[in-house]
This record gives sequence, C-alpha cells and structure tokens, in this order.
Amino acid sequence: YSNSAILGIETSCDDTGCAIINDAGVLLSETLHSQNLIHLRNGGIIPDIAQDLHRTHIEPTVSQTLEKASLKMEDISAIAVTLRPGLPLSLAVGMKYAKHLARRYKKPIIPIHHMEAHALAARMHHNIEFPFLVLLISGGHCLLAVAEDVNVFKLLGESIDIAPGEMFDKVARKLKLRNVPEYSKMSGGEAIESAASKATNPHIFKLPLPLVDYKDCNFSFNGLKTSVLLHLRKKEEEHKIVAHKLIPEVHDLCAATLMATSRHLVHRVQRAMEFCEKNHLIPDNNKQLVVSGGVACNNYIFNTLTILCNEFDYKICRPEHKLCTDNGVMIAWNGLEKWRKNIDIITNYDLLDIEAV
Ligand code: KG4
Ligand code: ZN
Repeated sequence: YSNSAILGIETSCDDTGCAIINDAGVLLSETLHSQNLIHLRNGGIIPDIAQDLHRTHIEPTVSQTLEKASLKMEDISAIAVTLRPGLPLSLAVGMKYAKHLARRYKKPIIPIHHMEAHALAARMHHNIEFPFLVLLISGGHCLLAVAEDVNVFKLLGESIDIAPGEMFDKVARKLKLRNVPEYSKMSGGEAIESAASKATNPHIFKLPLPLVDYKDCNFSFNGLKTSVLLHLRKKEEEHKIVAHKLIPEVHDLCAATLMATSRHLVHRVQRAMEFCEKNHLIPDNNKQLVVSGGVACNNYIFNTLTILCNEFDYKICRPEHKLCTDNGVMIAWNGLEKWRKNIDIITNYDLLDIEAV
C-alpha cells in the first residue's frame, strides 16, 4: 500500500479540466470548466479567447480539485499534463501551469498525448486488455488505431479532411438548429441526433458513401458536408426560406446526415477489422473495439457500430459520456497508467514543451 496520487491537467482545446486519481485507480476528484457556450455564441473556437479563458480558470480549477479531494500539492506524486495535440495557445496554458507546480513542489511531470488518453480512458472502468482496436471520433479528431500498450499505438487511418463532430457542428449551424430553443444549448452533434429522432422520411435525401473505392482505413467528411449543404440550399430555394427560418424537412435531413455518417464509420471500422485479422494485430480471444471522443456519445452511431461488432465477434465498449468528451480524468488516468509502468516520469522538464499538431 502506497499513497501515490496523480494530478491530471487538460487544456488542449476549449475545456479546462483537472482530476486526481490514486494509485488504486480511484477517482478522488475532478473539475471541468467548459467554454462550450461561449464558443457556441461565437460560432466556433477563437484561439485567443480560448487561451484567455484557460488562463482565468486554470488556477481555480486545480485548487478546487485538490480541495474536493482534501489534498494539498504536497500529497501529489506526479503531474500529468496534455502536451499534444491541440491548439498551441491552449496547450501552453496547461503546460506552463504544470511546470510552475512541478517546480514549486518538486514533482515530476508526465507528458500526455491527448488521443492516447482518449483511447485509454475506457480501461478505467472496464476490463480491457491490450491490444485493442480504438475509434476516436470528436470535433477535432477522427482516427482508427490499435492500442498495443500504454505508450504503443499503431495508427490504421485518420480523416483526410475534417472530423465528424466538426461536420455536425457546421451542418447544425447552417440548418439553423440553434434558432430552436430546444437545441440552442446543445453541441451541433447532439442537436442533430435529437432532431434526427423526429424524422419521418430521411430517404428523400441521397448522400454519398465517402472513400468507397479506397481500401484503406481513412475517413473523409468534407464531401458529405458539401452534399448535405447542397440539399439544404435546394430546399431553401424550393420553399423560399428566409433569414432565421428552418426548412420543413430539417428532421429528415438531420437523420440522413447521421445515417450517412454511421455508414461511413461502419465501413471504415470493418476495413480495420479485416486488416487486423489479416495482419494478426488483435488475437482472436481479445477482439475489442473501444469507441471514444464526443461523437461516441451518439447512440445511433454507437448502435450501428454494435451491430458490426456482433457480426465480427468483437466486443464493443465506450466510456461513460463525460469520459468520452474532453476532461481531466482521462489525463490523470493515462498519467497513472504511465506511473505504474514507470514510463515518461520526467524530472528535468525544463526542455519539455508543447508540441502542436
Ligand atoms: O471530444 P469533444 O468534447 O471535443 C473534441 O472535439 O475534442 O467532442 C465534441 C464534439 C462536437 O463536435 C460535438 O458536436 C460532438 O462532439 N458531439 C456529438 C454528440 N455529442 C457531442 N456528435 C454526435 N452526437 C452526439 N450526441
Ligand atoms: Zn478530445
């Protein structure tokens, strides 16, 4: 029995997150300050504003997290912090603050890769052994990888343009879903999922299957986005829609968008499963797909992936909602996984710097 506790700090995008996990893997406390509503109002993330908000919130977020766990910095064994990838201005705030704490309290720093943290988060509450297949889908990322160990990942494919969440957010804005009070406080993806559940005839909109002729595991959402917006413009012209009004077929178009997105994701994950099979990347007794990132919260997408998994004998797992989206817990957890294996415990961190990707 020892008394280690890992403090995790996340500032890679628009959430200031902090959490403390003890060496038994128990979450002692967490704090998350989301900038979501401010960025929704601005129609997207403005890096300078995101940085200012991180600067304002980083200190109170960390202090509150310590307080909630009744701990002091002296009780912390190491500070895990997101180094990459992300918005450089945002990453820098977390990194600087972590270094300041590390110097002041003489603690090591454990650098964390944001995507690896998303991938490993599922291991916190589920019994998932390496190697496993992981699909990360969010507003900023879209990738398929094999997690072979805590710090060993084999990238199978990624988006060649935008991420699915970014497409949802852009489409939701053009559909003017924010003008409907019910959706006004939701992310684009949530709003589309909600509106899609009211669809009656989604098949009136034909959307393409991206990269259908490519036998790799990459993704593309730009073409899909363009097709949706073309359908929207046609309907707006047809109904002579003005200003803040929505098209009457908005629910059907949302459902069509969601179905086309699922179709593409399933198509690519199936490719990845076949690739893993052929190259013996995943043993037969450990066929496991982990789905994470904000878009993994989507039940329709998760259900279609579950059908695929059943067909291919894979187990499927997604972390609980708040662990799927950006947070400090997954950073602390990844820190603990590295701490346990003595990987990346950095004491001479002066040269350590953010790496924007
Ligand atoms: O992981 P996350 O919090 O931040 C990063 O992008 O890193 O994910 C946010 C993204 C947004 O694009 C949002 O529209 C999408 O996840 N999202 C969803 C749902 N909830 C959030 N997309 C589809 N369905 C949802 N239920
Ligand atoms: Zn993320």
